[in-house]
Amino acid sequence: MKYIIGIIQPDRLDDVLQRLTEKEIHLVTVSSVVGRGRQQGIAEVYRSHKEPGNLLRKVKVEIAVNDEYVEPAVDAITGGANSGNIGDGKIFILDLAECIRIRTGEKGNTAIG
Ligand SMILES: Nc1ncnc2c1ncn2[C@@H]1O[C@H](COP(=O)(O)OP(=O)(O)OP(=O)(O)O)[C@@H](O)[C@H]1O
Ligand SMILES: [Mg+2]
Repeated sequence: MKYIIGIIQPDRLDDVLQRLTEKEIHLVTVSSVVGRGRQQGIAEVYRSHKEPGNLLRKVKVEIAVNDEYVEPAVDAITGGANSGNIGDGKIFILDLAECIRIRTGEKGNTAIG
């Protein structure tokens, strides 16, 4: 199991979610975040609303998946979020030790989807 974190431009969220749905990836956590990349929040201010501290508004998309869904999930995020411009975002992929559905107590591969 993997835990995929995508940091993307807020205006790309709808496209990313639609592409995830097309790949039958429905379970997702989305949050508004602020952050900065290697331009340190300066060069792409024309794209993102700027917050104090040279931080730019981004959207964080988090998806826990079984291994066979890693590639489809990454394809959906990159396909929806890549405009070819700085600040398009980043994807982090972490090994996921466990997943537990609280209601049923299911664990692992059956709990994740
Ligand atoms: N190494 C990192 N650690 C934590 N968060 C990061 C890291 N790199 C990027 N981020 C987050 O991702 C957001 C988008 O990053 P961004 O796309 O600007 O990356 P970049 O490395 O600067 O690439 P680019 O040159 O294409 O802009 C940042 O605002 C920040 O929130
Ligand atoms: Mg950047």
